[in-house]
Amino acid sequence: MTKEEHYCQLLPQVQSLCEGETDLIAKMANVAALLHSEFGFWWTGFYRVVDNELLLGPFQGPIACVHIAYGRGVCGTAWKERCTVVVPDVELFPGHIACSSESRSEIVVPVFQGNNVIAVLDIDSRDLNTFDGTDARYLEQIVKFISNNK
Ligand code: SME
Repeated sequence: MTKEEHYCQLLPQVQSLCEGETDLIAKMANVAALLHSEFGFWWTGFYRVVDNELLLGPFQGPIACVHIAYGRGVCGTAWKERCTVVVPDVELFPGHIACSSESRSEIVVPVFQGNNVIAVLDIDSRDLNTFDGTDARYLEQIVKFISNNK
């Protein structure tokens, strides 16, 4: 199965996990679990915007840093720039925050509610070059199911 096919297969599952649920944390928890188990990523989780910083939210994988400031690391950059950040090699990203020395590549996708970034989805891989535009496109669709309260 290609990556694209895998994401296509997951989209209806994400939709049904999120539909009718209004609690963001519950939805984040299930989406993190689904993506993590389906793709076998190293770390899959959310940081929520709380009191003007990113605060660790539901995740799967090893323990991680709890607070990330605006504009810091890959997560804080995605929040500040309000767009998905794909990092093929974390060692080449200035200011990357290494929660785990095993992480080699990363993608961070902002979660919008209206015009505001309310969280970011952060995924780490133990391999270089894991993420590309296909991941960005599908993960951006996936996080919309979380913030859409229908
Ligand atoms: N690498 C992230 C920090 C979070 S952990 O990867 C779970 C960053 O640079 O923002």
